[in-house]
Amino acid sequence: MIPGVNRLSIEYLEDRPEVVPTVASWVWQEWGFASVEACAGHLVESHRGGLPSRFVGLKAGDPVGIVNLIECNLPPRCHLTPWLAGLFVHADHRGRGVGTALTRFREAEAAALGVRMLYLYTERAEGFYQRLGWTTLESLEWEGEPVAVMSRELRANAQDS
Ligand SMILES: CC(C)(COP(=O)(O)OP(=O)(O)OC[C@H]1O[C@@H](n2cnc3c(N)ncnc32)[C@H](O)[C@@H]1OP(=O)(O)O)[C@@H](O)C(=O)NCCC(=O)NCCS
Repeated sequence: MIPGVNRLSIEYLEDRPEVVPTVASWVWQEWGFASVEACAGHLVESHRGGLPSRFVGLKAGDPVGIVNLIECNLPPRCHLTPWLAGLFVHADHRGRGVGTALTRFREAEAAALGVRMLYLYTERAEGFYQRLGWTTLESLEWEGEPVAVMSRELRANAQDS
């Protein structure tokens, strides 16, 4: 269980294959990839301690959110790596610390793997990440939308920060 968030546990997605169809339907609805099946195909690619790797947040066994670590999420900035990507909390569970817990867990796991600088880009959640200590590196247009590219310096004990 994750301290501070009621009944939340966080697991590697490959350990919970039964939740992949549900998570794939969220990802498809939120980010509009080609199909739910295509999303599920991406999600099953998950390597413990490697790239890509995916964590799912669960409450009472049901998925409530997801967060990924991938090599690159923004083709014009692939000299930067790795990236926190695809953070999503189901609408029924927002505003209760799940997004924060998933981000912190992801940061801590990356730090434990030796990552010292983590990157992300976001269209709508710059303020959310700023509150968690992320810094905006630049603003640019990507696929017709303004996005913020952000970074976070990690320490070995990132879970505590
Ligand atoms: C952004 C998101 C992950 C936050 O998850 P969450 O579980 O609600 O987050 P938490 O409960 O840990 O934190 C909520 C706090 O962040 C703030 N917040 C949430 N979304 C925000 C946003 N887009 N911009 C700024 N602040 C935001 C809330 O107002 C709340 O503040 P409060 O504690 O003062 O009330 C969730 O809203 C989501 O999945 N959104 C759709 C996908 C998305 O935008 N993902 C971001 C990556 S690109």
